[in-house]
Amino acid sequence: MENLSNTPTAQPPVIYRKDYQPFPWLLPETELVFNLGLETTLVLATFTVTRNPDAEASQQLRLNGDGLTPARVTVDDVTIENPEMDGDDLVLTLSGDSHKIMIETELDPSSNTQLMGLYASNGMLCTQCEAEGFRRITFFPDRPDVLSTYWVHMSGPKDLFPVLLCNGNKVKEGDSVGGHHFAEWHDPWPKPSYLFALVAGDLVAREDTFTTMGGREVDLAVWVRAEDLDRTEHAMASLIRSMKWDEETFGREYDLDVYNIVAVSDFNMGAMENKGLNVFNTKYVLADSDTATDADFDAVEGVIAHEYFHNWSGNRVTCRDWFQLSLKEGFTVLRDQLFSQDMHSESVKRIEDVRILRSAQFPEDSGPLAHPIRPDSFREISNFYTATVYNKGAEVIRMMRSMAGPEKFRKGTDLYFDRHDGEAATCEDFISAIEDGAELDLTQFRGWYRQAGTPRVAAELVQTGGTTELRLTQSVPDTPGQSDKAPMPIPLKIALHDRAAGKLGEEQLIVLSEAEMRVPLGEAAEPVLSINRGFTAPVVIERDIASADLAFLAAHDDDPFARYEAMQELVVGHLLGAENAGSAQDITEAMGAIIADGSLDDSMRGELMALPGVTYLMEQVEKADPTALHEAREGLKKTLGVGLRSELAQLYDRAAAIGLDDPQGRGARKVKTMALGLLAAGDPGAANLLAAHQYDHADNMTDRQGALMTLCGFDTPERVDRLADFYERYRANDLVIDKWFTLQALSTLPGVLDHVRELAKHADFTLSNPNRARSLYMALASNPAAFHTPSGEGYRMIADLILALDPINAQTAARFVPALGRWRRMEEGRAALMRAELERIAKAEGLSRDTSEQVTRSLG
Ligand code: PHE
Ligand code: ZN
Repeated sequence: MENLSNTPTAQPPVIYRKDYQPFPWLLPETELVFNLGLETTLVLATFTVTRNPDAEASQQLRLNGDGLTPARVTVDDVTIENPEMDGDDLVLTLSGDSHKIMIETELDPSSNTQLMGLYASNGMLCTQCEAEGFRRITFFPDRPDVLSTYWVHMSGPKDLFPVLLCNGNKVKEGDSVGGHHFAEWHDPWPKPSYLFALVAGDLVAREDTFTTMGGREVDLAVWVRAEDLDRTEHAMASLIRSMKWDEETFGREYDLDVYNIVAVSDFNMGAMENKGLNVFNTKYVLADSDTATDADFDAVEGVIAHEYFHNWSGNRVTCRDWFQLSLKEGFTVLRDQLFSQDMHSESVKRIEDVRILRSAQFPEDSGPLAHPIRPDSFREISNFYTATVYNKGAEVIRMMRSMAGPEKFRKGTDLYFDRHDGEAATCEDFISAIEDGAELDLTQFRGWYRQAGTPRVAAELVQTGGTTELRLTQSVPDTPGQSDKAPMPIPLKIALHDRAAGKLGEEQLIVLSEAEMRVPLGEAAEPVLSINRGFTAPVVIERDIASADLAFLAAHDDDPFARYEAMQELVVGHLLGAENAGSAQDITEAMGAIIADGSLDDSMRGELMALPGVTYLMEQVEKADPTALHEAREGLKKTLGVGLRSELAQLYDRAAAIGLDDPQGRGARKVKTMALGLLAAGDPGAANLLAAHQYDHADNMTDRQGALMTLCGFDTPERVDRLADFYERYRANDLVIDKWFTLQALSTLPGVLDHVRELAKHADFTLSNPNRARSLYMALASNPAAFHTPSGEGYRMIADLILALDPINAQTAARFVPALGRWRRMEEGRAALMRAELERIAKAEGLSRDTSEQVTRSLG
């Protein structure tokens, strides 16, 4: 038979949002029987189909498959010989109103390297079904608008799989013959197939309980390999905090008697919100201070919360089709961001999220892969799990919240959950519910769902008579397939400060909804505009502002984000050599003031001290020369390191005196490593020894990794020794060995490309584990000096990687394509080299749907 695998034909068909049709059949209940084995698993699926009164009647029942052969198919207990196949799908012709279907399939989980469907990881079996992985397990209407109640019977050898888990509640378990045992699970909540999950393996659990606001006692468990058990405390604590927060903040209560989380080392993404049985990448579960940095701890907490929040935003209310992905992802990202803001510092979290948006989403929005948060078409849905759908999607909902205010926004989300509980909904349903519940008119706001591209807002202060007027102009840039865009409502928090009087103006929220707007702002002798405070809108502000005004904002603005933003603007202007830009001296003074500012805590100080990354700088220019930008940035670091040497040394010493568990400890560790980085630029010899000392005396991973990162920039014996020590110390811990690969691939030393080639031959390196593949090659692709080496060698290495990885794991391979897709924004020489690599990939035989779509779009 043809086309049986995930590696398809040249041009996969385009699927359009406008073509949506409800499925002609309903499947109220689905029964699955799994006979589990690593090499052979038998699956028996039984369900009754009835006609969907809300759909056009059809004689056809199309059951999606991907690489499956039906071992046996029966309709109403009669075997169908040679059932009809259409490509990978099984198509049955049915004449009545109700039919019982039974399908048997046979799988080999151990050969499943794509990590979609049922696969083996370290001797255990697990599943990943979102978006279209269920069709790799059995033939089924694998689309999110077909909701069914699942009954699952799973059995297998007890020695290999002592633990058997599935969605919902366990209703029965026991031993059977030949050393086998079984478990039966029932999930009372109707769900789409993408939320199905099953796990079988030798696992142990950290257990706890949570009593919901309605008094339901829930058994919580985090399942890991025995050796990882003592690194699960933080994950469990994060889960409990998430459950409580969602009750208090969104009124959402958990709805099953158990909540299981399983950590697996081979996983394509961060984690998956399967009903009652989340499956996680180990990276987002395991953490202790010896092996995880402070940032890792935050990531675990954020992802645990994210998956938990999906129980309502995604599971109870799911998506009608995959074009609505942002309905669950944008909303859930916003929910996890608000949670983390509440758990820690609101402003620091906001700055971190904006930094992610600008470094990951803005480039997407200005490149060949730009798409609206609700796309109109796709070939492979896996390519649309993007920063646009997730992070810009969250920003769009955050704008609704800013315009409504938190209380009214909550009325809107309550109405949304009430109206659509148990349904597969659309983004339009969400917008309408917010409109009705929060009493907002979002007619024009819908443009944010339709139009791709980051809006640009030009802001100018004009003195008329004694008063100051703010003049705003907006434009939405053209993106592939979209031009002539309409203005959108852009909520902006602004304030007018007076530099002469040292007076801070009052904040107000304005909404720029036309192409142009004028706002009278009152009197000020030396007016300084504070705009997009708190980053209320995901836009680029263009303004001509004196460096002295930026220094004033950086030092005095009462909005922490505005202070951060002013520092960034000051540095960007300087590095790009803009007109009126501040000098290195101005930046040194501003940075000195931040170091000395006693009103700041160190976490915020660290944000203000952070220099914009090269990716962000590249976004600011039409045709980038990454080497030049990198060198300019390194030059500024050196100036700062020399000019602020004693201030940085003092800051370092003060921070170094604060202990691991001190409440001030996290902030202290953050500024300590930043100070070390700047000192290293100013006086490499001294910093080399200081970093080695920090490494040797570290009692936590944040300090140890920070020191090693600095050492990786030096060609010294200290670097070689400490890297060797790090490897020996952590050789049994995959997640830490990932760090070891990453730190070396991020090095600014010449020769890093050769070094990466050597590391790829290391006994611990493998392409079959996504974390490991990314640890080396994502780091390389994000190392501007190395990746953009003028010879094109970095591009070639990433292209080679894509070609080697594509047959093993297409989803993961395709995620490397955007790095090469930025060619249009590069100076000519590099643009040609990047293009040539994309063309080379495009010509390869048997390319996956994932990679071929991304390469085709990137070549445009
Ligand atoms: N739905 C998951 C999340 O964002 C992401 C995911 C997508 C995981 C596809 C696996 C596969 O929480
Ligand atoms: Zn999600």
